[in-house]
Amino acid sequence: MSGFDIQPIFDTDACERCIQECDAFIRSAYNRENAVARRSYVFEFGSPHEAFAFAIQYPGSAATDGLPGFTIDELPPSLREATRRACEKMGLERGRVFMNVGRYSAQSGPIPAHYDGELFDYTVVPGAGMEVRRGIRPGQVSILTLRNDSSVEGITLTPEQEPPRLVEVAVGELLRFDNIRYQHSVPDIIEPRPGAEPPRDSKVLRYIVGWRPFEEGCFRWSDGRPLEALAVEEAASMHHDFLQDIWPSQIEADLARASFSRDPDAARRA
Ligand SMILES: [Fe+2]
Repeated sequence: MSGFDIQPIFDTDACERCIQECDAFIRSAYNRENAVARRSYVFEFGSPHEAFAFAIQYPGSAATDGLPGFTIDELPPSLREATRRACEKMGLERGRVFMNVGRYSAQSGPIPAHYDGELFDYTVVPGAGMEVRRGIRPGQVSILTLRNDSSVEGITLTPEQEPPRLVEVAVGELLRFDNIRYQHSVPDIIEPRPGAEPPRDSKVLRYIVGWRPFEEGCFRWSDGRPLEALAVEEAASMHHDFLQDIWPSQIEADLARASFSRDPDAARRA
């Protein structure tokens, strides 16, 4: 694909239902056992917002059956429906998707410009980004805004060598964009939107869920080399190699960053 597009897929009530389901899914599925199995991902890097991620076996294929992931039927109903619609919108027919959930409270952010991807071997270079020695870059990403009572009006897309542009996205809209052409970011600190009714039952001002393919329409990603299109089987093979060769020695470092069973309002209710 090239560029980006926006499509409304849920009304506000459906979004709030989906939030309840996402929170329940995180409580049950974001745990040590699933992280070790690489069905859930520890995406906690000390950022002020809460991030969770999961591998989903959808649309599925023989090449990816042996890789970890939740089946689509393990997702609660409206999250399942949103996942189906996002995959349909991205035109995915094979393989797995990587699904992430972002919960932003006041003072969360900013999120620096980055490409999404599965990084198998990388180093974070403080102040200079990320050196990726081996990874997979999905060709496209979709993000659904489920709630936004914050001052952030959308997602900022930055094409290479061009100025960033803010793409306004409303609640219930699915933004799909080219993850080869654009880096994406949330450049501002999250503040309550002036005049917005504060959420009655939650401290989460902004709530998003996103999807990107793990194998279909993906590229071999290593710094200093041009991206190289991968067949589904090749991407699946890279995931298998990572799980066999690298993941066992990385598990403990990932788990050490995790705070499992995170409920956004547990502290408030306590
Ligand atoms: Fe991202």
